[in-house]
Amino acid sequence: MSTAETDLRGLAGRMIVRETPQALAEAAAELLSLATESSAAARGAFTIALSGGTSPRLLYETLARPPWRESIPWETWRVYFSDERASPPDDAASNYHMARKTLLDRVPIDPEHVHRMPADSPDLDAAARTYDALLEHDLPRGPGNAPRFDCVLLGLGENGHTASLFPSTPALAVADRWVTRGQADYAPFDRLTLTFPTLNAAALVVFLVTGASKHTALRATAEGTTPASRVHPADGVLVWLLDSPAAGTTANQVSGRDVIPLP
Ligand code: 6PG
Repeated sequence: MSTAETDLRGLAGRMIVRETPQALAEAAAELLSLATESSAAARGAFTIALSGGTSPRLLYETLARPPWRESIPWETWRVYFSDERASPPDDAASNYHMARKTLLDRVPIDPEHVHRMPADSPDLDAAARTYDALLEHDLPRGPGNAPRFDCVLLGLGENGHTASLFPSTPALAVADRWVTRGQADYAPFDRLTLTFPTLNAAALVVFLVTGASKHTALRATAEGTTPASRVHPADGVLVWLLDSPAAGTTANQVSGRDVIPLP
């Protein structure tokens, strides 16, 4: 086993590694297509929390192109967000703006089924309570009585944060609410974020991590020293979608069909 593979041996869940970001985006699209099929067959809908930053852009653009644009039953998608910056919805820094430009405006999802996190509100605590109530209304309850998403997409920061759960911030300790305010260590500093109880109640959690700059954060996460280390779905599947530079290994043969139990 290479040093890099040893580095990541502590990561919980399944690992899907592909050589390039585009090959990884295709594997991620297949995974989400299978998860949609499974959830839609069981409940007629697929609830997903989208992540922000730059890593998911290629995935969203891939989903908005053939074959996925035609094959995914977009009418079943119910879209939420894992976190959001304190930026207006038409601001380039907004995760909602990025998702709209790369995916939501390019596929036939009913706008009524897209739920932006209002992190540009002047009262972030009230905004967190509003989104919290939305999740309680829209989603079934999962482990810890938290709202249960069919899928939560997450990224990984170089300091090991995920969503807007940054090291040494109060958000890490929130155990009784589903959404809270976050504090980033780069602008936009103010955030809203799903909390660990919500992440860990999901049926499927997918980390999408690309680039050699993320290997150190992955190793630290495998060692249990980052906020991302605390993501362990209590009754769900955890998948790490990594490109070879991030993983420090060559591609493997694991695919979405190996990790999504179809009905
Ligand atoms: C955000 C994201 C954040 C992101 C990581 C990785 O609002 O920025 O939700 O958690 O996933 O910071 O960001 P990159 O994909 O840009 O490296």
